[in-house]
Amino acid sequence: MERTFLAVKPDGVQRHLIGEIIRRYEAKGFKLVGLKLLQPTRELAESHYAVHKERPFFAGLVDFITSGPVVAMVWEGDGVVASARKIIGATNPQTAEPGTIRGDFGINIGRNIIHGSDAIETAQTEIALWFKPEELVEWQPNLTAWV
Ligand code: TYD
Repeated sequence: MERTFLAVKPDGVQRHLIGEIIRRYEAKGFKLVGLKLLQPTRELAESHYAVHKERPFFAGLVDFITSGPVVAMVWEGDGVVASARKIIGATNPQTAEPGTIRGDFGINIGRNIIHGSDAIETAQTEIALWFKPEELVEWQPNLTAWV
């Protein structure tokens, strides 16, 4: 089953958006299979954003992502990589559509609340970077047993 890596960035945590963000993916129907709160090291942040290391915003981006706690998550479901990106919205919150997470809650491209893997291969790399295999939980939703 397809999986993606999502992270509530330090601004999203500070603004109390963790619950709101998780709610959107739960409500959509995706399955949470990994979840932890951590303050990323510079090494982790630099690896995660390695593709951007020559860009002018790289140093500021690494400073920002290491500045406080981040909620790292793995979500599972059919088409979850592309669908999660739709729910996130465009990179710049000023052009992100209302109804998306960045469109509803963000203003500044450098404070855009959430990260989501941009492709299936990227998701696999990011999941392996942020999570140990034993931190991911295999479980079967079974609503009828609980209501
Ligand atoms: P990118 O991977 O292009 O966007 P996305 O997060 O939507 O996949 O860029 C990674 C992050 O870098 C982005 O979330 C915010 C930051 N960034 C800037 O600060 N300035 C920029 O001009 C760009 C393109 C990105």
